[in-house]
Amino acid sequence: MSPDERRAALVAALTEKGSLSPDWAPSVAAVPRHAFLPETIWADEGGGDAECTRSEEPERWLRLAYSDLPITTQWDDGADDGTRSTPTSSASMPTVVVEMLADLGAEPGHRVLEIGTGTGYNAALLSHRLGAEMVSTVEVDARVSARARTALRGAGYTPEVVCGDGSLGWGVRAPYDRIVSTVSVRHIPPAWLIQTRPGGVIVSPVSPLLGGGAVVRLRVDGEGTGSGRFTRSSAFMMLRQQRYEGAPVDDYLPGEWPGDSGRSWTELDPEAIGDDWLAQFACALALPDVYYRRNGFGEGWTWWLFDTAVTSWATVDSVPGQSWFEVRQSGPRRLWDEVEGAYRRWESAGRPGYERYGLTVTPAGQTAWLDEPGNLLK
Ligand SMILES: C[S@@+](CC[C@H](N)C(=O)[O-])C[C@H]1O[C@@H](n2cnc3c(N)ncnc32)[C@H](O)[C@@H]1O
Repeated sequence: MSPDERRAALVAALTEKGSLSPDWAPSVAAVPRHAFLPETIWADEGGGDAECTRSEEPERWLRLAYSDLPITTQWDDGADDGTRSTPTSSASMPTVVVEMLADLGAEPGHRVLEIGTGTGYNAALLSHRLGAEMVSTVEVDARVSARARTALRGAGYTPEVVCGDGSLGWGVRAPYDRIVSTVSVRHIPPAWLIQTRPGGVIVSPVSPLLGGGAVVRLRVDGEGTGSGRFTRSSAFMMLRQQRYEGAPVDDYLPGEWPGDSGRSWTELDPEAIGDDWLAQFACALALPDVYYRRNGFGEGWTWWLFDTAVTSWATVDSVPGQSWFEVRQSGPRRLWDEVEGAYRRWESAGRPGYERYGLTVTPAGQTAWLDEPGNLLK
């Protein structure tokens, strides 16, 4: 199959799925996704990310380019040491790209800022529909940015390509009617609010610290407050400036485990939260300053919970087949009790989906809510 035939098939598949609106179909039909991909790419067709090099497997490479799959294009911020632990740049999954464009509601006449140029493919779609002069895109990685600029020019699109930290937005062309981030944040950067005109929209994936993730659509008012609901689940890579390492365990527990912790038992298997992206997201929104690590032991897992203020920790042992799980908690906060409480509230609210949750963001911070902005999550 030729690239044109493959692209037409992708348009048909995305339309059939209900993801691609008639507004964006001509752009997806016109922009050659393969022209934005490098020689070597990685895609997961089942069994994990597998490498594919164009010169060695041209047919497979082209098939992947027009598959509804995310394509990894960089690992570990481009470290050339041969390790591949974390994907750090990609062409996002076409379904996600077009659904986020639908969330954005960008129309001809709108000035748009994209955060996370990546391959340049999304910037090309925006340029095709809105005109390149209405599109700016910011990428933090110099090599990725240069590559995207070349690919965009090669395909005939000349949006403004900026190499810089997208968490600062791009003030030069502000205000924008729309800001779309294709990289996930824990906190919506204040610059994005300031650079969006009143009535404008910000669409961004949000990944709270405890896990899960979803796309939020904020409308910005005349006071510079953004508020709106989540639209769908997401699993984007993190904005470089908002990655979170966490403090060493020793900072929480200077001696041997279990230290001064109190012991209790729970019927809730932490894996029930870890295995459910939505449940994890709901708990994470309610507890934005709590994070976890998971260590294997024997057949089970120990969940370690920590607060970012480094005051408290907890462990819960998840052992398959058990119905009671040992809990240890130390510090002024009872972190497992807080997580379990958030999970139980999510259950008793009828396991609300992403779209029942929302965010209100001011330059001073963000709050999460359920159903309406006054109903803050606890
Ligand atoms: C999922 S990729 C973007 C996909 C892209 N829109 C496309 O169409 O191919 C996320 C990108 O965000 C970039 N990124 C991470 N932190 C950033 C930041 N602070 N500012 C701008 N870009 C950032 C990464 O380097 C990566 O290239």
